[in-house]
Amino acid sequence: MVTESTTTGADILDNLFAGKGGDGPHLVITSGKGGVGKTTVSILVADALARKGWRVIVVSLDQAKHLQEYLGLSETNRAYRVDRGLWALQFDLEREAERFTQEYVMLLQQIMPGLKALNLEKYAEVVRNSPGFEEEIYLRYLESLYSKREYDYIVVDTPPTGITLRILGLPGNYVFWLERLSELRERIVSSRYVISKALGERREVRDPVLDKLRELRKRYGRLKQLLSSPRDTSYVIVATPEPLPVFEARKTLEQLRRLDATVRLIAANKVLPSDKARLLGVHEVQQRSLEEIEKLPCPGDCQRIAIMATEEPPHSLTGARRLLERVASLQEVLKA
Ligand SMILES: Nc1ncnc2c1ncn2[C@@H]1O[C@H](COP(=O)(O)OP(=O)(O)OP(=O)(O)O)[C@@H](O)[C@H]1O
Ligand SMILES: [Mg+2]
Repeated sequence: MVTESTTTGADILDNLFAGKGGDGPHLVITSGKGGVGKTTVSILVADALARKGWRVIVVSLDQAKHLQEYLGLSETNRAYRVDRGLWALQFDLEREAERFTQEYVMLLQQIMPGLKALNLEKYAEVVRNSPGFEEEIYLRYLESLYSKREYDYIVVDTPPTGITLRILGLPGNYVFWLERLSELRERIVSSRYVISKALGERREVRDPVLDKLRELRKRYGRLKQLLSSPRDTSYVIVATPEPLPVFEARKTLEQLRRLDATVRLIAANKVLPSDKARLLGVHEVQQRSLEEIEKLPCPGDCQRIAIMATEEPPHSLTGARRLLERVASLQEVLKA
């Protein structure tokens, strides 16, 4: 039996996921403030899973595209095998947004064949610049990941926290509005039916608009369920031991609790050894932040690790692997 004192941080990473529950891939969504090490930790977690024999892909939604740079992925939106059992993909929002807008324009052309090219362009521009458009593109992509059965685990490196939280909250908002719209439509349909009957007219009981609303309600209800089910999705929070990243981690955890999601790991990254922290005059702030990270309320049975800062930034798979020796349980680091 492994006792607590001999459990290394690498063991914790190795044993984060006991086994895959669902039929489709399990998504591991990494979140944290810009620059704290989301991409690096995503690679670490994906690599640990691949070593256990799972088929894993690390997908970065972040448009800073550091995953592409760290793993040398020449093209975006394309999966590359970077090691045995490990693939990587850099998502390109612009390309996907363009594809989606074109699809939308084609749909408009079908519905309104009279529209002139110039008008279509205007519609496309309005759609492209509408608030929430990018979040919707991200959400659709996230949804599509759940059907990628060629992978057991998909580790998702996310865009900045604000966008991520909005994306994760969208399915719940959609469900709310779709239910209200369905109720409204049901009232319209039944009133129309009563009037037609009174006038002795025949009227189709089925309503295509109501069908569509119900279909969308089902779709987003399922996605909401997938994003919060511990069988299908886990979350990883990364923060450096500084006030702002810890504050952002807390906000994210609060939102995840509201979504009833399961957090599997909280990682304090770029932790300085005490002597170095003292030398730089940040020891007190670091210590206080680490204590706060230890106390962060964690929905689900989550592990907490500390990853020490390295001299050389881990800008590659090898660099991320080197970090493994620098991983420890947060409790141990706090005790030291
Ligand atoms: N433990 C560590 N020690 C030293 N440097 C690190 C460590 N972890 C990450 N870094 C470096 O910190 C920088 C930011 O890391 P990374 O790109 O993983 O963060 P991020 O949160 O994904 O950033 P962004 O929000 O810009 O996408 C990189 O230069 C990375 O190599
Ligand atoms: Mg990143």
